[in-house]
Amino acid sequence: MKTLVILAHPNLEVSRVNQRWKEELLQYPNDITIHEIYKEYPNWNIDVPREQNLVEAYHHVILQFPLYWYSYPPLLKKWFDDVFAYGWAYGTNGDKLIGKKLGLAMSIGDKKENYLPGGSVSFTVDEVITPFKASTGHVGAVALPYFAVFGASFQASDEEINQSAKEYINYIFKHQQ
Ligand SMILES: Cc1cc2nc3c(=O)[nH]c(=O)nc-3n(C[C@H](O)[C@H](O)[C@H](O)COP(=O)(O)O)c2cc1C
Repeated sequence: MKTLVILAHPNLEVSRVNQRWKEELLQYPNDITIHEIYKEYPNWNIDVPREQNLVEAYHHVILQFPLYWYSYPPLLKKWFDDVFAYGWAYGTNGDKLIGKKLGLAMSIGDKKENYLPGGSVSFTVDEVITPFKASTGHVGAVALPYFAVFGASFQASDEEINQSAKEYINYIFKHQQ
């Protein structure tokens, strides 16, 4: 197994994008492990040693989620808070993430042009994800360029979502080494 995908979607059964992406990831069981945290932890009681052991086993980790309020769905934020702990991710002996490659794969409801300079969102996606990039730097990991599909709320057609699923796999394999 070469890539770990932490998939965080609170309602995967009504998802178009993340569900389709998951189906595509499942085509590569020798290369990609999917870990669905909303399924694993319905009570939000995260098994921290289990998660840390899982992350330690991979050099390449992707966090896949729908963008909610320009941020992570809440269980993924909790996952960071719990798993990226002192003495493991940072601080004394906190060296477990040094050199690992971390990436974000996001479905974004709004249109791409609204995230361009001068667009209605007022911030680019790279600006929106600065907390991720700062966190990655803090733990000595490498932040990969993000992968995203835009218009995920309404505009994106089934064809575009299918195409994005193929591009997502290419993105994963490109950064796997
Ligand atoms: C609570 C909530 C917050 C959202 N916040 C944003 C947002 O900040 N920016 C945005 O572009 N889309 C936002 N959306 C739209 C989601 O990103 C979109 O529904 C999702 O990416 C679709 O992916 P899915 O088909 O896998 O569910 C939000 C949706 C919900 C339900």
